[in-house]
This record gives sequence, structure tokens and C-alpha cells, in this order.
Amino acid sequence: MKPDFLNFQQKGHELIDLLSDYYKNIEKSDFPVTVERTPAEMLEHWQADFQKTPNDVTEYFEDILKNSIQVNHPNFIGHQVAAPLPIHTLVNALLTSLNNSIAIYEMGAAGLAMEKIVADYFIKQFEFGKSANGIFVSGGSIGNLTALLAARQAKAGYDAWTEGNLGDLAVMVSEEAHYCVSRATQSMGFGADGVIKIPTDSQLKIIPEQLDILYQKAKQAGKKVIAVVGNGCSTSTGTYDNLEVMADFCEANNLWFHVDGAHGAPAILSKKYKSLLKGAERADSIVMDFHKMLLTPALTTIVLFKNGQTSAEAFSQKADYLLEQTQEWYQGANRTLECTRPMMSVRAYTLLKYYGGDYLENYITRMYDLGQYFAQKIIAHPQFELATLPDCNIVCFRFLPKSDKEINQLNYAIRKTLQEEGEFYMVQTVVKGRAFLRITIINQHTTEVHLDRLLEAVERIALVLE
Ligand SMILES: Cc1ncc(COP(=O)(O)O)c(C=O)c1O
Repeated sequence: MKPDFLNFQQKGHELIDLLSDYYKNIEKSDFPVTVERTPAEMLEHWQADFQKTPNDVTEYFEDILKNSIQVNHPNFIGHQVAAPLPIHTLVNALLTSLNNSIAIYEMGAAGLAMEKIVADYFIKQFEFGKSANGIFVSGGSIGNLTALLAARQAKAGYDAWTEGNLGDLAVMVSEEAHYCVSRATQSMGFGADGVIKIPTDSQLKIIPEQLDILYQKAKQAGKKVIAVVGNGCSTSTGTYDNLEVMADFCEANNLWFHVDGAHGAPAILSKKYKSLLKGAERADSIVMDFHKMLLTPALTTIVLFKNGQTSAEAFSQKADYLLEQTQEWYQGANRTLECTRPMMSVRAYTLLKYYGGDYLENYITRMYDLGQYFAQKIIAHPQFELATLPDCNIVCFRFLPKSDKEINQLNYAIRKTLQEEGEFYMVQTVVKGRAFLRITIINQHTTEVHLDRLLEAVERIALVLE
């Protein structure tokens, strides 16, 4: 069988050559880290392209590359998106060709075995014990929903999968949690009041005393709280909640304890920083994205369950053509929302097999250390301010003008100018009503030198704008 593509072999070699040069020369390249074209210009560019006779496919690939944000550039210090290890480009080529689905064993044999091996690896890291299991899902948002579906079935006090929501079910979560948690509960029909937001202190960590106050108040209002979600860590400021306190509270009140570790759970691999996750070993479920802090392309997310049985109970559905109602490790489709699932486990397995825990430990520790480095530079500078001392590789800071310029607007303007210059990619956020510039140091080639230059650029722009 010949691949029905315009010269698959030659074009494959050309793409690898293009990407090899791209990796080698990314810092020397003349195209910017950020996307230059406005949305209207971008649409126009591709509309024109769409009308043309198809050009050489390698030129076409190059055009896509040039019109993309360069997450592989060390000056990409913005959102929590991994610069994937180049081996993943090869893995993904293989997976795309195979197009196996890890829904059922017949369709995804190798991927399902690898899923179990990777899950067991992290179950051990998190000390989840022998009854635990894990499942790969398409992203942290779906992961949180998957965990909360299991939480509802385990703690609602009746068969919620069959009977739906009887009464006012609710989940308690930090006010700093990612929006996908309330999106999950609202998708589950809990309504807007189904998320009880726990206030945070000046470090953006939940205030422990508020747990019981809010819980009692919810009970008095007739709500049935089923779960507490801990940040491990939060998106905006990278803050880890006090997970031990949350675990105590859940234990005392028979609630499901879920840790959203989409960004921060990989810290479990770092001897220096794993203490941030103390208490996560007592969670009922943890979500972890490989496509954030584990050098892997999107979407690659795992959900771990302390009691593996609970993950299957969340979806007790019959589909005669597909689902066997047995609980073997390879019956993946019984434990997730998704039917077809790509072989994302192979990406995670490859990472552990070819790079391994030590490599990942060094990477995570280094990125978190750079967060500390950058924070110290901010502290040392009289015209910069931190939102909070960072726990990890996410740092929020802002420029304080000497003039009477409005601070929030000034910082938004700084970021806009930086974005237009194109040399760095940095984002912005709002912390307790105040605008901050926000960086995530996530590219393993980012060093102190890049961070120093970023700060110089921000200061240069700020001094002009203030
Ligand atoms: C803490 C946290 N949870 C969940 C998510 C959502 O993950 P995903 O984008 O993979 O759906 C994010 C994304 O930034 C996050 O930071």
C-alpha cells in the first residue's frame, strides 16, 4: 500500500529538515515570538491562500509555522503551554498514522497497556495505594469534570448517575480556581450557586477557617456539598492551597477531596518542591496535565483516582456494541466521558521511558527556581511589585509609576507594547481587582539571561509610558 499523499517520503524528510532548522535557529530567526498579524489580517491571509492552487506542501507548512506563536522560543514566557520535546513530533507522526483509539482493548491495545503503566508510575509518586487507577482524558477541563462526576456519584448519597441532581448539590473551591471547575459543575446542572467560592488570603491561598464557616452556611441553606477542590496550583498566580488542611476538612465531613494539579502536580517529581503538594496523597482524585509542566504536546491529561472503583461508578452506562461492564484496567471507555480517545498515553510513556524521572525532576526544579530568581529581581527593583511571593514558575508582577498614571491601565499598555514589539510573549492577569503582568517560565531553554532581558524590556517600555 502506498500512502496516498504527494510524495510522503520526500515531504516527510523536508518537514523534519524544516523543524530541525527551526529548533536550531529559533533564537536567531527573524520572525517574532508573537503573532504579528491582526485577526482580520490573518483571516485575509488564509482566505487568499485557500483560493490559490495548492502550493508545495513544505512551503505551506512553513507558512503555518511563521503564522504561529513560537512556544519553542525561550522568550515565550506567557501561558502555561509546554514547548514539547522534539521526540513528541516523531511520536505524534506514528500515532496519527496508527490512529488507534484507547476506548477499548481491541482498538488500542498498546496504548491501554501504556496507560496503566504511566498511571501506576504516578500512583506510586502520589502514594495513592493499591486500589488506585488512572485514565487519560483530553485536557484538564475534561479531567476536572471527570473527577467531579465521580465525586457526585460517590458523595451525593444516592445513584446520581441514574436519578440526576436531587436537591442543591455544590462543590467548594478556592476563588482562585481555574474557571473550568465552575464550568464543570454548571455543566453538571448544579447551577451558578453550585460553586461555593472559598476566599483567599494575601498569598492567594484559601483561608482555612472559611471552610467550615461556608460549609455550615451551605448546609443551613439546604445545600448538599459533595466535594472540595484544592488548587495544586492555581492558574493565575501559581499558588498551592494548603492541601493538608483541606484533606482534614474533607475527612472530617465525609466529602470528596479533589486536587486540580493540571499545572502543579508534576512538582511531585521534584525533591525540592514536592512539599508544596503535601496533603495531595490524601485526595480522592488528582488531575495532571502533561501538556503544561511535562514537556508534552496538548492534549495529554491524566486523572488519578484513589479508589479506582469510583471512576467506573461515575459512568454506569450500557452500550451493547462497545462497553463490557467489567472493571479490568483495559476497559477505559467505562471510566471516561469520551468514546474515541487518541493514544495520548504513548506520549506520556515515551516521556518516562526516554527521559525519565530524573530529567523531569531537573526540569521542574529549574523552572521553579527561575520563578524564585525572577521574584527576587522584582523585589530588588523599587518600581516593581509582586502580586505575591511565587510558589512555582508562575510570577505576577507590575510596574509602579512615579507619575499619577493609572496603574492598571499602564500595565495593560506595557504588555500591549511588548506584544507588538514581538520579542517576548508575556500575559496579564487580575489579582484581587488589580492588574498584573504574568509570566510562566516553562521553556527548558529559558535562562536567567532571557528573564533579565524581559525585565529590561518591560522597564524600558514602562519608563516611556509612565
Ligand atoms: C489549574 C488549571 N486547571 C485546569 C486548567 C484547564 O486545563 P486544559 O486547558 O488542559 O483544559 C488549567 C489551564 O490553564 C489550569 O491552569
